[in-house]
Amino acid sequence: MSAEEVAQYPFISRAGAQPFTIARAEGAYLITADGRRILDAAGGAIVSNIGHGRTEPGAAYARAVTETSFAVPPFATPDRVRLVDRLRKNWLPEELTRVSFTSGGSESMDAAIRLVRQHFVSSGQPKRWKVIGRNLSYHGATLATLGIGGHEKRRAAFAPWLPDLPKAPACFCTHCPLGRTYPDCALACADELDRLIDAAGPESVAAFVAEPISGSTIGAVCPPDDYWPRIAEICRDRGILLIMDEVMTGFGRTGKRFALEHWGVVPDILVSGKGLSGGYAPIGGIYARESVVAPIAAAGDELMFFTYTAHTGACAAADAVLDIMEREKLVERAARVGHELRARLEKLADHPNVSEIRGRGLLLGIELVQDRATGTPFPKEAGLTSKVVAAGLEYGAFFYPGGSGPAPDVIVLGPAFTIGTPEIDLLVDVLERAISSAVERVQR
Ligand SMILES: Cc1ncc(COP(=O)(O)O)c(C=O)c1O
Repeated sequence: MSAEEVAQYPFISRAGAQPFTIARAEGAYLITADGRRILDAAGGAIVSNIGHGRTEPGAAYARAVTETSFAVPPFATPDRVRLVDRLRKNWLPEELTRVSFTSGGSESMDAAIRLVRQHFVSSGQPKRWKVIGRNLSYHGATLATLGIGGHEKRRAAFAPWLPDLPKAPACFCTHCPLGRTYPDCALACADELDRLIDAAGPESVAAFVAEPISGSTIGAVCPPDDYWPRIAEICRDRGILLIMDEVMTGFGRTGKRFALEHWGVVPDILVSGKGLSGGYAPIGGIYARESVVAPIAAAGDELMFFTYTAHTGACAAADAVLDIMEREKLVERAARVGHELRARLEKLADHPNVSEIRGRGLLLGIELVQDRATGTPFPKEAGLTSKVVAAGLEYGAFFYPGGSGPAPDVIVLGPAFTIGTPEIDLLVDVLERAISSAVERVQR
């Protein structure tokens, strides 16, 4: 494909904006049609965990769809059963016994919202429908998930279709939306949930939803250790369900199987996507407590499936990916390599435009500012993050663009768990050069 042909690529997005085609991918690298190797420091969209080019998931997919190309989701198939068994045995908190699958993160979050609603309708509490989310969050691109999300730019065009649901403040100590300082604040941001429930009418609230560690909206922001236990306590006390969106953080990304393990909190509904299949098949998952599903089942109802819910090929590919993760102890590796990468990134800590390096495991964020002393961000028109990503591609690494609100420029890192010291060296070197070159271009 010529650069002109690539630019004509008829996809409804900015695909084609890059003057190259990705011909294939191998390990932690994307390889362009003209043979350039680009380190995939973002694991695509923080998806790739076992790395690119493994043969087992594709082989499992081919075998599964050759055996059964399609069976309606309520039918058990060996591949569905195998994946559910593996998840329950080796991955999920034991309380989360009920499992369903979709084709990705947005669909899974959408299904979780429906599950919450069906739970309360079936339990004889039909007034409960409001799902409280947080500002500066992202839960997907369907209308329902945009409705519970707090990514203003992504919501803006759809405002007429989005319900006016309450939003709790983000737990973002560096830019505390309440202007407080931890620990003196005594977790005022968590207590806001209590206040919002009262303001919304406690009998109308069904659930609270958040990402345990923020995704690309503000870039790998970790809450203080007592935040999640406090949130879980409020949800319990107020009789609302807790949904944890682990689409980005799940399946080892933060150095634990799920980020919830950092704080010992088990939600009522857990949602995953990306890492479940490491990019080898479109699949997401919803995992719920028996107590969430029991009233729905007792009412003779069920969660409506999508045609591709629990697709046999996707289940087989995901099972093969998780098998590799288990055999090669990749969750432990993500924790270890994450520490190494984090330590090496310290070299950027004194960079005049780096205000914070944060995250857990292999989900890391580097926040960039114009003035470190005052924390002033670059003006929006500067497009700093896009320029860092473009410079990174030129120097040989792909970084994930993040940031919004008080942190408009954040580079998000989420490489495959299989990276080693040579990739870490390359990543840090390219990132440092890309930031300096982008800042220079902006200031020129
Ligand atoms: C936390 C979170 N939830 C939901 C989604 C939506 O997932 P998908 O893009 O697979 O639909 C994303 C995607 O980035 C995410 O990061």
